[in-house]
Amino acid sequence: MNIIVTGAAGFIGSTLVDSLLLDESAHVTGVDSLTDYYDPAIKKANLHAIASDRFNFVEQDINETYLKTLLDDAEVVFHLAGQPGVRGSWGNSFEEYGRRNILATQRLLEACREAPKLRRFVYASSSSVYGNADRYPTRESDVPAPMSPYGVSKLAGEHLVSLYAKNFAVPTVALRFFTVYGPRQRPDMAFHRFITDAISGVPLEVYGDGNQIREFTHVDDIVRALILASFKDTAPGSVMNVSGGTSISVNEVISVLERLLGKSLRVERSEHLAGDVFRTGGSTQLVTDVLGWEPKVSIELGLRSEIDWMQKSNKAPASSPIAMASTAISEELLTPSLD
Ligand code: UGA
Repeated sequence: MNIIVTGAAGFIGSTLVDSLLLDESAHVTGVDSLTDYYDPAIKKANLHAIASDRFNFVEQDINETYLKTLLDDAEVVFHLAGQPGVRGSWGNSFEEYGRRNILATQRLLEACREAPKLRRFVYASSSSVYGNADRYPTRESDVPAPMSPYGVSKLAGEHLVSLYAKNFAVPTVALRFFTVYGPRQRPDMAFHRFITDAISGVPLEVYGDGNQIREFTHVDDIVRALILASFKDTAPGSVMNVSGGTSISVNEVISVLERLLGKSLRVERSEHLAGDVFRTGGSTQLVTDVLGWEPKVSIELGLRSEIDWMQKSNKAPASSPIAMASTAISEELLTPSLD
């Protein structure tokens, strides 16, 4: 089984690769350009932790790579590469969002039209396509209305993915991820920042009043959905929510953290940032019906796994901060069959 993972050095990508390689028949090629959106040393450490001779890494930008050779033997493509970050997508930085989320996706899809063995293309979409939705839990059939340029770029990528399914029978599935967290989480995201500050004893920075609600989803649940989407029967062009099951406000998350860490945490409130929606929350009816997926990791267990990872990372030598990223729950939940 030959599998391509774009964005393989990132938070979700590297966790997915680890899981795919548990299947001895899997041969995985990771593609990543190691952008400097956050410290590339973190991405290199993620790659370093993947110890398998069935993993091959290609440091390339999808917009510049000759994709035909790469895709010649590919049976499954997981397209996770992209420019993340909701609140930073305004202004000049949008150029990178357009290039990395829209142009790169279109270029990869064009190449997939000619990939002789391809049987599934899985696209990492985002809850940010919904903006401030009209109802919760939001369904895939509800009209998307992004609130951030980032959301616009992910929705454009998703539309491209569906277009290539409809017009050229590329066997695509798009999964809309809801705020993913857990070991290896990106350093710009809320939980990573909160836990870092809590460990260092400095105040946590909360944007706005902290009443904004997210349906946070653990990375192990996300990886399980990705793998199910790669082999379960789905109609080409399908789009599904993958949301974590618990809607919780930022203030409530901080209370859970206080309980888990056994100390009270100081909070500093700063301005609400443009692009940040008031609430996300997705219906999982469709993904349950089609893929048989439902979230398994509770917010308490999930936060615990991220705290454990960060506490261990803090003690590890700087050159291998992520070396011990797989947690007990990863082992327990990620034993997929790719047959
Ligand atoms: C996250 C990812 O960063 C996006 O790439 C992804 O596509 C998106 O989820 C999604 O679900 O579609 P976001 O929900 O903003 O975006 O995730 P966090 O950065 O973890 O923020 C969660 C909440 O905490 C936000 O309301 C944010 O304003 C707040 N926050 C974040 C703070 O109050 N303080 C911080 O230091 C960071």
